[in-house]
Amino acid sequence: MNNALRREYLAALGLTTWVARGKVVLPMLEAANKLPVAIEPPAIEPAAIDPAAVGPPAAREAGVDWPELRARVAACTRCSLSATRTQTVFGVGNQRAEWLVVGEAPGAEEDRQGEPFVGRAGQLLNSMLRAIGLAREQVYIANVLKCRPPGNRDPNLSEAAECLPYLEQQIALIKPKIMLAVGRIAAQNLLRTDKTLGSLRQQVHRFGISQMPLIVTYHPAYLLRTPADKRKSWEDLKFARDVCAHV
Ligand code: URA
Repeated sequence: MNNALRREYLAALGLTTWVARGKVVLPMLEAANKLPVAIEPPAIEPAAIDPAAVGPPAAREAGVDWPELRARVAACTRCSLSATRTQTVFGVGNQRAEWLVVGEAPGAEEDRQGEPFVGRAGQLLNSMLRAIGLAREQVYIANVLKCRPPGNRDPNLSEAAECLPYLEQQIALIKPKIMLAVGRIAAQNLLRTDKTLGSLRQQVHRFGISQMPLIVTYHPAYLLRTPADKRKSWEDLKFARDVCAHV
């Protein structure tokens, strides 16, 4: 990606650029771009979770292909959200993606369109991905929940437990190199923890049997409300990019 385009995406992230001696300098990005060969892979922490504890055994049942999985999700009535949804929101993107981005649950617009992250938060997510050189179409985007909780309330524990097997089946099909959990709810459900988002950032967590690296960052909807934290999110994305490069 050329620098002008990257600047555009960084601007969407609210990261200011400045001009020094006739040259445009991108904060941190310039430094990051010069570093790759020198960069040490971020320290891999011991497993943050017990892989055996992730997901009910049914989630690991073999042999489900994309059409079958999509059909099962579309017909799902495992929890009461099936009664209030307009439609299920399965997930979108490259079925062989290296990156799997996982959010919380569909919002109103996603419920209407049947695609995750299509509202304002989705536009910011696209810019965040672009800033690290990834097009939306290159990654796979899904949510912990496939159905919208009424009024956008937080998913409850049993809804997440009923729905997570679908995400695990998607993961088994995609086999991504890295997962990016956006927002506290996604992070807490995937890592089975009640730790704060702030304490989960900037660490390599591990997900599932394959011990896939999982990085946590802020939810784009939160960043729209709290633009001061966009810079931290940018640090998380660079961290995730470095981790992915070393997988
Ligand atoms: N927020 C999410 O967590 N997921 C979406 O798909 C949309 C908004």
